Amino acid sequence: MSTQLSSAEIKRVTTHVIQEMKNRGEKISALTAYDYSMARIVDGAGIDIILVGDSASNVIAGHETTLPITLDQMIYHAQSVVRGAKRAFVVVDLPFGSYQGNSEEALRSAIRIMKESGAHAVKLEGGLEVKESIVRVLSAGVPVMGHLGLTPQSIYKFGTYTVRAKEETEAEKLMQDAKMLEEVGCFGMVLEKIPAALTKKVSASVNIPTIGIGAGPHADGQILVLHDLLGITKEFKPRFLRRYADLHTIMNDAIANYVKDVKSNDFPNIKESY
Ligand code: KIV
Repeated sequence: MSTQLSSAEIKRVTTHVIQEMKNRGEKISALTAYDYSMARIVDGAGIDIILVGDSASNVIAGHETTLPITLDQMIYHAQSVVRGAKRAFVVVDLPFGSYQGNSEEALRSAIRIMKESGAHAVKLEGGLEVKESIVRVLSAGVPVMGHLGLTPQSIYKFGTYTVRAKEETEAEKLMQDAKMLEEVGCFGMVLEKIPAALTKKVSASVNIPTIGIGAGPHADGQILVLHDLLGITKEFKPRFLRRYADLHTIMNDAIANYVKDVKSNDFPNIKESY
């Protein structure tokens, strides 16, 4: 008799549950969220992993890059998401400048996130360059997710958001980094904007789950930025993005109707009054 729980029966997704999904070939679903209300909806819809991404810097704060967001701001977002997520595994991005300096700083930042938000894991960008920080955070019992390929915190080094690791040398480095992440004990890794063939190779070469964004169909799971999937961000149109709604239009029309009703004294009516 199988003791395996179906996705709906899982009370709380854990690193163990995520690993089992990879082992049995079940794709892992992941999305970002940054606040309580959205986290409740995303969680209720059955997402396995919620990432409190530093993309909050873009879609919530309106910055051009992810660099300005602070550790305090990430903790605030994470606290709100944790209150809304009952089933999903909540991962929080270590923001730019909170882990690159040295491994002690990385550990302190990760501990603040775990202690002050109640989240379940942290994510950080990079490979061998940040190995020491990853090892230090892991040594405190904090689950770590890696992030390779297009790493937005290094955008000024890359100079562009185009596909990474198309060349042999960069692809080889990415493969080495992926193996390192597995060896040191990360529970998974995001692969962002790399060729589908490389994602396939990496996903077959490591036993831990790979979660792709713009990395083709061969990753063990997929992640998107919630505001992109919902069509709230209208101008962002990369090839990899599938929009599942046009909330920008829906919200715009709803708000425009409200403005019209207020101006014409149609709202509130007698039934809507005390
Ligand atoms: O911050 C973020 O939203 C991310 C995803 C794009 C993976 O890191």
